[in-house]
Amino acid sequence: MAITVTWLGHSAYSLQIGAHRVLIDPFLTGNPLAPLKAETMQADFILISHGHGDHVGDAPAIAKRTGATVVANNEIGIWLRAKHGLEHVHGINPGGGVQLPFGRVELTIAHHSSSLPDGSYGGQPNGILIKTEAGPKLYHAGDTAVFLEMQLIGEEGVDLAMLPIGDYFTMGIDGSLKAIKLLRPKVVMPMHYNTFDLIKADVSQWMQRVQTETDARPVVLQPGESFSLQ
Ligand code: NI
Ligand code: MN
Repeated sequence: MAITVTWLGHSAYSLQIGAHRVLIDPFLTGNPLAPLKAETMQADFILISHGHGDHVGDAPAIAKRTGATVVANNEIGIWLRAKHGLEHVHGINPGGGVQLPFGRVELTIAHHSSSLPDGSYGGQPNGILIKTEAGPKLYHAGDTAVFLEMQLIGEEGVDLAMLPIGDYFTMGIDGSLKAIKLLRPKVVMPMHYNTFDLIKADVSQWMQRVQTETDARPVVLQPGESFSLQ
């Protein structure tokens, strides 16, 4: 089963997993790096790490238009049903997961906050672990500081880790290097940087440090660019 990972800028990704189209944190409207418009996005599943507007993003509108099934934490799930009238929602929590046609999706912990765009309580922030049917495991850290339990996630055998490096709201380059050493992913991609001035990061310095200080292979995508996971 081919797995293609396309970066949409910020923490937004579009995954093609076999026949299934999966969006993660689809923040396109208002995202200056977004290569595509929310109105044209297709999705079968949408995964949301936490309640902040730059992660929930266009998820309600895309889910409504496409009928995509959404996976998020319990509170975001309740909000999507009540406020946006979505019906196909899994509101799960860390330690739990849901079996979907392309694999199992689990939420992990994250150290961050999670209020929703309208000020509603968004529950606890999360990372997302995707254990694909085909085998590869993908970890999207969401917005987080580095935390020691990343070791436990790493024990699963992470093929691709998507980590924030932009500092200010999340871990920066130093934190991400520590995270990579705990997660030991085969491939690592930087996210949540250069979207806004506050989270500018020197991605070539990050890439060089990953190469010299860790065993992971850094892959830096341009917005709209794709990577095939073998
Ligand atoms: Ni956030
Ligand atoms: Mn964020």
